[in-house]
Amino acid sequence: MLTKVIRLVVVGLILSTLFTPAARAQQVTLRVQTDAPGRPISPDLFGIFFEDLNYAADGGLYAELIQNRSFEYQATEQPTWNSLSFWELTKRGGGEGKWAVEYARPLHPNNPHYLALEVTKVADGVGLVNPGFDGIALRAGETYDLSLFARQLFMNRRWPPDNSIEGRPMSLAARLESKDGEVLCEAPLQVVGREWTRLTAALTPSRDEEAARLVLLAKANGGIALDEISLFPRKTFRDRPNGLRADLAQTIADLRPKFIRFPGGCLVHGNGTGNFYDWKETIGPVEQRRGQANLWGYHQSVGLGYFEYFQFAEDIGAKPLPVVAAGVSCQNSDHTGEVGQQCLAIADMPAYIQDILDLIEWANGPAASRWGAKRAAAGHPRPFNLEYLGVGNEDVISEEFRVRFKMIRDAVKKKYPEITVVGTVGPFPDGTDYEAGWKFADEQRLEMVDEHGYKPPEWYWRNLTRFDRYDRAKSKVYLGEFAAHDTGRANTLRSALAEAAYMTSLERNGDIVRLASYAPLLARQGHTQWRPDLIYFDGTRVLRTANYYVQQLFSLNQGDAYLTSTLTGVSSPDEFAVSSVRDGRTGDIIIKLVNGNSAPRPLLLELSGAKRISRQAIKTVLAGEAAAVNGFDAPARVAPVTSGILVDRQFEYEAPAHSLTVIRIKTR
Ligand code: AHR
Repeated sequence: MLTKVIRLVVVGLILSTLFTPAARAQQVTLRVQTDAPGRPISPDLFGIFFEDLNYAADGGLYAELIQNRSFEYQATEQPTWNSLSFWELTKRGGGEGKWAVEYARPLHPNNPHYLALEVTKVADGVGLVNPGFDGIALRAGETYDLSLFARQLFMNRRWPPDNSIEGRPMSLAARLESKDGEVLCEAPLQVVGREWTRLTAALTPSRDEEAARLVLLAKANGGIALDEISLFPRKTFRDRPNGLRADLAQTIADLRPKFIRFPGGCLVHGNGTGNFYDWKETIGPVEQRRGQANLWGYHQSVGLGYFEYFQFAEDIGAKPLPVVAAGVSCQNSDHTGEVGQQCLAIADMPAYIQDILDLIEWANGPAASRWGAKRAAAGHPRPFNLEYLGVGNEDVISEEFRVRFKMIRDAVKKKYPEITVVGTVGPFPDGTDYEAGWKFADEQRLEMVDEHGYKPPEWYWRNLTRFDRYDRAKSKVYLGEFAAHDTGRANTLRSALAEAAYMTSLERNGDIVRLASYAPLLARQGHTQWRPDLIYFDGTRVLRTANYYVQQLFSLNQGDAYLTSTLTGVSSPDEFAVSSVRDGRTGDIIIKLVNGNSAPRPLLLELSGAKRISRQAIKTVLAGEAAAVNGFDAPARVAPVTSGILVDRQFEYEAPAHSLTVIRIKTR
């Protein structure tokens, strides 16, 4: 009997040793070398890519609430559009009058169209209505600043109006109304004189309204000209005038991006050479900027222009990374592929190159320099400290491209050797332009090139060692556009985890991958030309995707040295990726574990060589169903959860199924 009991105890002991959590965890071990300097990680690694696509600027980040404020919408942007799109003529209580688009004596030649309004029977008022972008969202008690340019028109029952004769002063009522016509607030304006004059009023609605309209009512018979009719919430991001929508800008700021690339994307090199994004047309007083067609099929007011981009970058602590066309247009011009890559004539290149040199002077030159003075006049006498300049975007690496790119690069480096010029290696992470782009980059000894790739989640898992194999002596990499495109649904957790896994490889190769940005950043509900995107929004709501949280967790936990770590017990199809970094500023060790598998992953973590470790660490976990997607109905279906975790030189952790875990360990 005693022997039987002893036998049972021994067997029990053996079994319990085999099945303790420690024994199970030994199947997978992550050993992190904490006492070696590690491989440096670019301080600018994780940033953002902003393109005016999906109504990201007008109707998006740019806080302007009026759509088509300067009557410049055109049929070249959308076939049904014209200067009067999104405006309505309203005649109240039997009022009579008419309107027309005029262009004699405009507010500014860059802003050629304006509205002429004639009131022949005033009754309860005759005027204009604008619904903004899908309705104007108002908050009770907040102030909205209305501004417009106006002048009297002499109306002699003739069109076009006679601009040589002065009309009479005109009283206007500026109102915010609900779509049912309820007046939410009102302010008077007085149009006086035959010169364009800026009029302003503050409007404060008494209640919330999701879809209000701006109404301007003339209160007497007569004529007026109106242009640049603008309405801004007073509360913009950092209270900047002509500023950014606070909730959206804050959502972007919460990513703590190290850089911001702008204004695109394909938008940069546009629909033919006449549609390049011309930075000079986007600075100065907004009513003097020249808007233009956006190749994504709408209008760019350029109210969010280069000054605002640079200011935003500075406000959120990100380095500005403007991209200019390489003298060639988007090869997908017209979206038909028939126009193809158009090239500036060589004779036009010197002037074009001068514009690019002027941009650098505008950003970095002293306030006394010609272009620095324009920056100073806009309210920023200090330089913006531009370091990076992108030249070209996903261009076909044709001979025409090569010649023009070289002209630009040589001129920039000659005058501004300190600027890092970022070249381009085509639209895909492999293939003809990728290879030709890299060959050209090698020949030209480019400092950095911009690689792009939109691929299914599996591609990212399969390519975790891609950058390990890159030649360290060649050009550094800006992974300017990447996103995992899942089949069927956009923004699944599965896609976000594939990106997270790939980003562990970016950290490991942070010595050569200097910059990386998910793309695209923003998309307005109902106006989305490209999916998936990082952040969705409508007039009042902002939705953070699972992909957003991945970007945020990497950005907030980037570190500056990649620590050698050895993962044993995992084979590559296991969909498990890790990275361990040190944040030199705090001394923290940060471990990231990406489990793309549907089974939890128990593991043993060993911090070898650690002198001191605080046992109380912080862990943040992003986990859920692989197919889970955040939506406006369920915005937190996938969201990070932060809690404490007890750690030691050796500790166990079970990475949940389909998860990203970030463990931050204090060593000081
Ligand atoms: O990010 C959307 C588009 O994808 C960009 O405009 C372009 O560069 C790429 O093809």
